[in-house]
Amino acid sequence: MRYEPILKKFPHFLHGGDYNPDQWLSHPEIIEEDFRMMPLAGCNTFSIGIFAWTSYEPEEGVFKFDWLDNIMDKLAQHGYNAILATPSGAKPAWMAQRYPEICRVNREGLREPYRARHNHCWTSPVYRQKVALINRKLAERYCHHPALAAWHLSNEYNGECFCELCLNSFHRWLEDKYHHLDKLNEAWWTGFWSHNYTAWDQIDPRDGCVDGLTLDWKRFNTWQCCDFIRLETAPLKEFAPDIPAATNMMGVADCLDYWRIAEVCDFIADDCYPTWDNAAGYSCEAAVYGMYHDMHRSMKQGRPFLVMESSPGNLNWKDYYRLRRPGVLQMEMLLSMGHGADGTMYFQWRKGKGGCEKFHGAVVDHAGHENTRVFQEVAAIGKIHKQIDPVIGTATPVQTAVIHDWEVRWALDACGGPTKNNKKILKTIQAHYRNLWNLNVPMDVIESSSDFSSYKLLVAPMLFMLKPGVADRLRKFVTDGGTLICTYLSGYVNETNLNFTGGLPGDGLRELFGIWNEELDGFVPADRQAIKMIAGNELGVEGEFHALEFAEIIHLQGATPLAYYDCDFYAGKPSLTVNRFGSGKAYYLAARTGDDFLAAFYRSLVTAENIATVLPVDVPAGIHATIRTDGTRKFMFLYNFAQKEASVDLGSGAFRDLLKEQNVNGRQLVPGYGSTVLEIL
Ligand code: GLA
Ligand code: ZN
Repeated sequence: MRYEPILKKFPHFLHGGDYNPDQWLSHPEIIEEDFRMMPLAGCNTFSIGIFAWTSYEPEEGVFKFDWLDNIMDKLAQHGYNAILATPSGAKPAWMAQRYPEICRVNREGLREPYRARHNHCWTSPVYRQKVALINRKLAERYCHHPALAAWHLSNEYNGECFCELCLNSFHRWLEDKYHHLDKLNEAWWTGFWSHNYTAWDQIDPRDGCVDGLTLDWKRFNTWQCCDFIRLETAPLKEFAPDIPAATNMMGVADCLDYWRIAEVCDFIADDCYPTWDNAAGYSCEAAVYGMYHDMHRSMKQGRPFLVMESSPGNLNWKDYYRLRRPGVLQMEMLLSMGHGADGTMYFQWRKGKGGCEKFHGAVVDHAGHENTRVFQEVAAIGKIHKQIDPVIGTATPVQTAVIHDWEVRWALDACGGPTKNNKKILKTIQAHYRNLWNLNVPMDVIESSSDFSSYKLLVAPMLFMLKPGVADRLRKFVTDGGTLICTYLSGYVNETNLNFTGGLPGDGLRELFGIWNEELDGFVPADRQAIKMIAGNELGVEGEFHALEFAEIIHLQGATPLAYYDCDFYAGKPSLTVNRFGSGKAYYLAARTGDDFLAAFYRSLVTAENIATVLPVDVPAGIHATIRTDGTRKFMFLYNFAQKEASVDLGSGAFRDLLKEQNVNGRQLVPGYGSTVLEIL
């Protein structure tokens, strides 16, 4: 089975990037040069007009689209796809001056001055009206243009505003959700510090002491952004109903619940800026991005997504201005395609001469020609896209899912404790993902309200909050034969951030795991605790591992212990358990550990539970592979994230190396930072 291509009219890998000719309008010769070089880079798709509002509407009500007509025509003449942006990401100075209310109000209650970008109020009726108008003008003018392939909605929506209008909108949203204040007071436990509200407008999201309020504000902010997206999209859909629209996400950025944003986008687009600066090897960073990619693919039930932005060169805003080493760009792009991207694009096509991003990598350097290392590497990616064209639209089969849920993250982060700095929920999810990824286990990354039924293994680290129905669905998942992994700090609160009573983990999970979690110990740096595996345990993991930062004191209530704590007053109490429940198994890891334990644990688990891995579990460190398939043809993306060459035995099958364009056998020598795509024949 193949998914529909991201752009219906172009069933090929998308390659290109943000193109900002609006910054070069007084240099027509540069634009000519751009179009001369675009085919040399093997590009086919350009995002245009992202920050071009002042070029469209230099003064209020005066619209100038000639330059865009010209660019769109040129793109069409070359057969390129235009991903035309709505310009709301950066507002014109004249607009902020005339209508200061479009600027945000910060936490301190101060109206921000005009500056930078991504900082408009999502509620402001004036801003909404201005955005709706400019979007309508663009849609009206270009809806039938042959270059128009998709809409790029604004840019990296983020932030929050505390103006009167936003607060008022929040109050209406709360009213809609809770209907009566007494229901809200109960849901938020507002008796605490005398916070019982008697009018909706008493509620200030900056309060900070009401955990349910802080969480609901985050939810509201996402809802408000979705509402703004719907406003942006309405005129686009009115004139061009078949042209897909999407905004570019930022991985797992904390600002918005991207699961909700995904629902108002036609396809998923992400901006990816990994840091390849660990000279010892890139596996860790590759796993971070592998997780983002798996999540973005999972957001549309496995449908391929688009890397909307990445950098072909070095990054001006990271700690170090480190160049991508030769081969790394190819590795990074194939990493995303191996995890389900059907296009890899760059920020940006050409480096601008000024502005705070003039040192950011781009396809065309300030030197202005194609004879640069970066340009040639980009051109090589263009060639690879053509070589692997049959991969387009293929699926990424999985048996395993990891839960990453913004609301769960926000719920824990909203709480005063436990501990200030050690919550690390995202890092913990990443650690579990990474240790499965290191074993070449293909994964989906889902939210807690996603359907679990198609998976064999479900990993839910620090599932602190249980939304309604989640506990029941976990029970059903295990009853039906699934294997579930949960950890410390799971099942503590409900969806309004109220603690479960009657023993943890709450909402019936005690029975599922066959344990009772009585206490949570958060270590001071000098504390020592360890997890000691029980000799001959059924999982076959042996030895002793450090426990780090958190350990829960749990009691067995039907579960089988696999390990005990080794130190302190709770030495001898269980630290890892498994409970048979229905036809499945529920594991509970009561303490945080390092990768040493997680590596050993998942290695044994994957073997014991017969979880499919793309490569045998003992391949050299750094070697990684993913599979994409349409059910008949099967493609293996093979990588070496280590600096040193490594060899891997893929068995006796026959393979075609699509990059080398020759048949090869299963013994593959992969150079340091090398990557390729093999069709399994
Ligand atoms: C983001 C933005 C781009 C640009 C790049 C620089 O992803 O969307 O406009 O600022 O970062 O890395
Ligand atoms: Zn506002």
